[in-house]
Amino acid sequence: MKILAIETSCDETAVSIVEEDATILTNVIHTQLEHVAFGGVVPEVASRQHAVLLPKLILKALNDVKCDQKEITHLAVTYGPGLAGSLMVGVEAAKSLAYLLNIPLIPVNHMAGHVYANLENGPLSFPALAVVVSGGHTEIVELDQSGEFTILSETHDDAVGEVFDKVARVLGLGYPGGPKVSELAQRGENSIPFPKAVVKDDPLGMSFSGLKTAVVNYVHKHNMNGKDYNKQDVAASFETAVVETLIDKISKITRKKNYKMLLLSGGVSANSRLRNEVSKYALMNGLLFSVPSTELCTDNAAMIGLAALAKYKLIGEEAYDLFPKIQPNDNIK
Ligand code: KG4
Ligand code: ZN
Repeated sequence: MKILAIETSCDETAVSIVEEDATILTNVIHTQLEHVAFGGVVPEVASRQHAVLLPKLILKALNDVKCDQKEITHLAVTYGPGLAGSLMVGVEAAKSLAYLLNIPLIPVNHMAGHVYANLENGPLSFPALAVVVSGGHTEIVELDQSGEFTILSETHDDAVGEVFDKVARVLGLGYPGGPKVSELAQRGENSIPFPKAVVKDDPLGMSFSGLKTAVVNYVHKHNMNGKDYNKQDVAASFETAVVETLIDKISKITRKKNYKMLLLSGGVSANSRLRNEVSKYALMNGLLFSVPSTELCTDNAAMIGLAALAKYKLIGEEAYDLFPKIQPNDNIK
């Protein structure tokens, strides 16, 4: 089994080839830099770039592993959630290739892809609790033996990655902001008491818009009054508030049920403070822990190949669909 996987849900055009034993033979990722000038992803530009880049990256992936297209046994593609136009480019390419090569196509949910990126570290143990933190989603989900996902906690407003990007913008760090805030935070102190929101009537619910506003107001107030402030400390204090909020929810959930494994995933899981603190929590509470290598935290196609593999192993040929529809707002499944 050799799966060629395609990911085009946002601003990364990516192709990977994955083998049956979860070996990643190649993982080609092109991050579109055209969006930097706009300070965020421009959907129309993203889909046009996917259309230009995808054929080249497919050829590169095949070339990387010295693989003839006839050796590919399966295709996998992200069908959602994501930007409609971007998803369409990947799905249409995968449908055409599957038809031409006469091989099955496995459609994959992007958020499930983030969780299954952890197969890079070995098999998962169930029941598992997965913390999924990306630019568009923030949720804590249970994953059981049958492959069923149950959302136990989610944000009521902004996703954590989105807030990292906003904080980066207000601190003048540019886009994409997460890695830049993260780098700055390593040199700062957690010295500013930013708020950690509690959601009324939903003890497991999360909210990050109040934290975002508090950081923006802090910076604007200092700028307006011509007062100095320490950017490193703002970054470290903000990051600490995010990490403590997530750990608080993880701890409430793991107190109620015995999980075998704690998984971290999504672009924000590249953040070292989050990786360290969640790993420490798992160790102290007797949970196995896994987080992907940083390359597999942010969007990539290897995670789509690994998720397709997991889906195929769980349900066999029922995983196939030659004509998947894009689902820009799909929940994790
Ligand atoms: O999963 P991802 O690549 O794309 C989505 O599915 O949304 O996540 C992208 C998000 C961005 O908001 C980016 O700023 C954030 O992940 N991110 C980080 C770090 N690296 C990427 N946030 C915090 N620390 C990082 N090191
Ligand atoms: Zn993603």
